[in-house]
Amino acid sequence: MLLEDISQAVGNTPLVGLPRLSPPGYRIYLKLEGHNPTGSVKDRVAKYLIEQAEVHGLLRPGQRVLEPTSGNTGIGLAAICRVKGHPLTCVLPENTSEERRQLLELFGVELVLSPASEGSNGSVRVARELAAADPELYMPFQYGNPANALAHYETTAPEIIADLPDVAAFVAGLGTGGSVTGVGKRLKRWNPQVKIFAAEPEYGDLVYGLRNLDEGYVPEVLDLSVLDSRIKVNSLRALEWTRRLAEEEGIFAGVSTGASLAVAVRVCDRLPTGSRIVAMSPDGGWKYLSTGAYEPGDVSQIAERISGVLWA
Ligand SMILES: Cc1ncc(COP(=O)(O)O)c(C=O)c1O
Repeated sequence: MLLEDISQAVGNTPLVGLPRLSPPGYRIYLKLEGHNPTGSVKDRVAKYLIEQAEVHGLLRPGQRVLEPTSGNTGIGLAAICRVKGHPLTCVLPENTSEERRQLLELFGVELVLSPASEGSNGSVRVARELAAADPELYMPFQYGNPANALAHYETTAPEIIADLPDVAAFVAGLGTGGSVTGVGKRLKRWNPQVKIFAAEPEYGDLVYGLRNLDEGYVPEVLDLSVLDSRIKVNSLRALEWTRRLAEEEGIFAGVSTGASLAVAVRVCDRLPTGSRIVAMSPDGGWKYLSTGAYEPGDVSQIAERISGVLWA
């Protein structure tokens, strides 16, 4: 595969079966988005946010980009902005993992930290204030920008359909809602019988990258009408399934993958026997190593020990 620059390496990720963890009579497949150039699903979104803004005349050559992000979108934007010639400022919670900060700094991103206690909502607040004060900044704002869901509608979903035309259900964690909305709409257009499930953290119990809608903010990108059901998953379950994935299937994924996998396993009994289900794996585990999530030992003790680091 010969590519002219890194932006062309986004997408076309593997869809990998889980023969050991799927309930009997069903087969769950993970869309391994950690295979994107900067290691997450957000490379697709970053590429669409910048290219759509350029196409629609919203972003001038060399103009600074500003975005609130818990990390993955920032890292994706950092790489895309580098090759497209835009300086970048990211607003992120001050307790974001060290690996994420280092990666952003390596790409030359200016970092603005928001209070840990406010989570990703705090980053959104601070970024909005900065953008309002400086008209020279262009804020793509993944939570409200249709290009976010469009990236999944035009790339992620067609890849799933090509690889697994009889897909019966799709499960993804709820962050901005871009994945469930974009993939969900396209899969339902392909086959109206396909079921779309969102994995949502329990109230007050955050899973990195995901959000509970009852906590006050429903992103504009999220189209709730595409969802058949929102299913709660707590952070301990998400961690358990993430670790089982490594132990039993040899797949090293981030903790939000465990959340969508936990939900995929749960929804099998709502689907006909023989169904094939796709669950989103937004990223690999590398950026979470420093949190201690993968250390040996009792998983509930680990979940407790790292709470506030991982779930803040
Ligand atoms: C690790 C991780 N998992 C899941 C998500 C949720 O994806 P989406 O924003 O498409 O809902 C994100 C996005 O912020 C993320 O960074």
